[in-house]
Amino acid sequence: KRPVGVPDKSLARKVTKVGVIGAGLMASQLALLFVRRLQVPVVLTDLDQERVDKGVSYVHDQIDKLVAKRRLDEGTAAKLRGLVSGSVDKSVFADADFVIEAVFENLELKKQIWAELEKIVTPEAILATNTSSLSVSEQAAGLEHPSRVVGFHFFNPVAVLPLLEIIKGDQTDDATLATAFAVGKELKKSSVLVKDAPAFVVNRLLTRVTSEIFQAIDAGTPLDVVNVAMDPLGLPMRPIALLQLVGPAVAYHVGETLHRAFPDRFLDSPNLKRIVDAKLPVMIDDEINPAVAELIEGGSA
Ligand code: 3HC
Repeated sequence: KRPVGVPDKSLARKVTKVGVIGAGLMASQLALLFVRRLQVPVVLTDLDQERVDKGVSYVHDQIDKLVAKRRLDEGTAAKLRGLVSGSVDKSVFADADFVIEAVFENLELKKQIWAELEKIVTPEAILATNTSSLSVSEQAAGLEHPSRVVGFHFFNPVAVLPLLEIIKGDQTDDATLATAFAVGKELKKSSVLVKDAPAFVVNRLLTRVTSEIFQAIDAGTPLDVVNVAMDPLGLPMRPIALLQLVGPAVAYHVGETLHRAFPDRFLDSPNLKRIVDAKLPVMIDDEINPAVAELIEGGSA
């Protein structure tokens, strides 16, 4: 049965080439997923060649690992390697029919990227945002064809977690939404249609937890104590390990969006800000980084 609000799949457009904007860890994971499941050309772009090369190498290395685990045969792996490429020049997106962005969590940056991209892609090309928290409608506002913008939000690690939040903006049309659901199915994800509300559903919930955890830290509870505090709940990961997986900067920016929307419920944490500014790993070999623990003790003294 078709979920409420999801248009008929007959409206979906075929995707024959995918563009990924960004070549960081999230973007590279997306490139891997798209090439593996859709088996169409996937092209990555980023600000400089070094980042692009790093993104393409990540995809190639992961393909090698899949072969080593016998999840891919060598013939398919060779084909997939040949389908992935990178460039610093966004004109490679001219014939892409599905472009997804996974860049820094900043509304103005995303709007600028979409405006630039509209001059390159065809009017039918779908523009998907993997934003963790920012409004899809606001990203689309001001574009010539805002109806082809859709939220397409994955969870770390992308290859493993099945959920995909698909977000309909105010102006997203049925063909775009139907294509997003069809692509989600090809990617073997469990897609859900969620409202274009700050941080959507999962990150809203998760950030509420992170926000409370950091209130306890800001009040003086040590990081290692807070880290084990949720063990009785049987979650797959401890909170500080999850912070490392998501990236403290991403968590912080999602928190900022939610703080702006609901200032009484999502409080700013000076210690999370310190961690972000220090750019240190929060965990090293499954242990809390002592430098980060010190940073916090120093901060709350
Ligand atoms: N990157 C890629 N793959 C990873 C990985 C990583 N960081 N960590 C683990 N994996 C893979 C392993 O290779 C393994 O794959 P395999 O079956 O092919 O060998 C598989 O995941 C299972 O790994 P393990 O058996 O080692 O470990 P676990 O069973 O403990 O599972 C986990 C690891 C899947 C990461 C699990 O701990 C988990 O689900 N954690 C919670 C993650 C979560 O909540 N993510 C959502 C974050 S919010 C978000 O991303 C949104 C964004 O907008 C902020």
